[in-house]
Amino acid sequence: MNVFRTKGLEVLKKEAATTSLHRSLGALDVVLLGVGVIIGTGIFVLTGLAAAKYAGPGLMLSFVIASVTCAFVSLAYAELASMVPVSGSAYTYTYASLGEFIAWLVGWNLILEYTVGASAVAGGWSAYMVGLLKSGGVELPKALTAVPADGGIVNLPAMLITLFLTYLLVLGIKASTTVNKVLVAVKFIAIFTFLLLAGPKVDVTNWTPFMPFGFAGVSAGAAVIFFAYLGFDAVATAAEETRNPKRDMPIGIIGSLAICTVLYIAVSGVMTGVVNYTELDNAEPVAYVLRTIGYNFGSAVVGTGAIAGLTTVLLVMIYAQTRAFFAMSRDGLIPAGICKVHPKYGTPHVITMIVGGIIAIISGFTPIHIVAEMCSSGTLFAFVIASIGVVVMRRRYPEADRPFKCPAVNVIASLAVISCLYVMSNLSSMTIERFFVWSVLGCVIYFMYGYSHSKLNHK
Ligand code: ALA
Repeated sequence: MNVFRTKGLEVLKKEAATTSLHRSLGALDVVLLGVGVIIGTGIFVLTGLAAAKYAGPGLMLSFVIASVTCAFVSLAYAELASMVPVSGSAYTYTYASLGEFIAWLVGWNLILEYTVGASAVAGGWSAYMVGLLKSGGVELPKALTAVPADGGIVNLPAMLITLFLTYLLVLGIKASTTVNKVLVAVKFIAIFTFLLLAGPKVDVTNWTPFMPFGFAGVSAGAAVIFFAYLGFDAVATAAEETRNPKRDMPIGIIGSLAICTVLYIAVSGVMTGVVNYTELDNAEPVAYVLRTIGYNFGSAVVGTGAIAGLTTVLLVMIYAQTRAFFAMSRDGLIPAGICKVHPKYGTPHVITMIVGGIIAIISGFTPIHIVAEMCSSGTLFAFVIASIGVVVMRRRYPEADRPFKCPAVNVIASLAVISCLYVMSNLSSMTIERFFVWSVLGCVIYFMYGYSHSKLNHK
């Protein structure tokens, strides 16, 4: 029995060349896809909780810690994505470096990133939608807009938006990237509206004390808002649908991460500078800050933009999950039937509907911060493995063509691993426990199904 069998680089390249998905995306599309998925619940929702309960104004520093971590990881991802431009992201890279079993575990944990993460985003979407409707005089009953843990029965808006986007994705990526572009523009307008209106009202005395909960609070804050950066890696899953993946993947991954870092630090600085951090513990802190300083219309603009922003995140996350499953089914680790491509739309429609349905159910019944932290745990695991993988690939395939090379790879990859483990160690113990339970379940499924059905058995 060899659970560490690997898939050769040549096989991956052949798969990329014979892909049945359409190659329709250019460099700008990829950056927009990245920004589309990165800016979302993290900045619009979780910042409030993170500032009030953990970091205070030191939240800016939390964003720096998380961003530096992601920057190290993104260099590793960019090298892998430019070298092996196939669907599946960390899962696929691991298959070629550390072997099938670890790859399966990564793929299994990517479900936490994409499916569970998407549920958190749907929850954030619902919070802003309910807030916006309320400020327009329409009050929806709490029973239908809150999860049971928050005193409701079901979060219906979260479920409905998920199902609607699933439908768009079944129709095809072309339609959805166009929608994505418009929504990304609206999201930028929202953020700049916030910065321009609230920026001049910053009172620097609100930044003192800067770290009310000490550096430990800042680190815990970094673990909570780490979610805000997730998505740059999801860009890599679109490699098979880009026209020139070798050039477009590094631009897309690093470019979108850089844009988001600047915006996040600015937003968190302004937020904690305008009101006292203790006031920020609510589900729509950005809109709240503007309302506090009297900009009701501005608050509505930002609320609308946040809703648009969260829509794109949700769209790309569902998309990324289906493409990761697509890659796993191609390898035989999950049944191929559920990933068949629609003859007319060219999309994996069955798996898209399954994923959308599961996200809808989770988002209808689970609180946002719990799913967001779960999502971060799975993603950090995938990041650690991918960063180790880039070094293993250098050793295994020293001659391979690397259009983008991670500088000082041993140092950067080590820093990526250390910083991811540091952020992970700051997640709540409940989250870590859930992560282990999930991983054990993944191992059981691999040994009961994946190992015997793997395509590598027939080679
Ligand atoms: N980065 C994404 C968000 O903040 C996942 O919602």
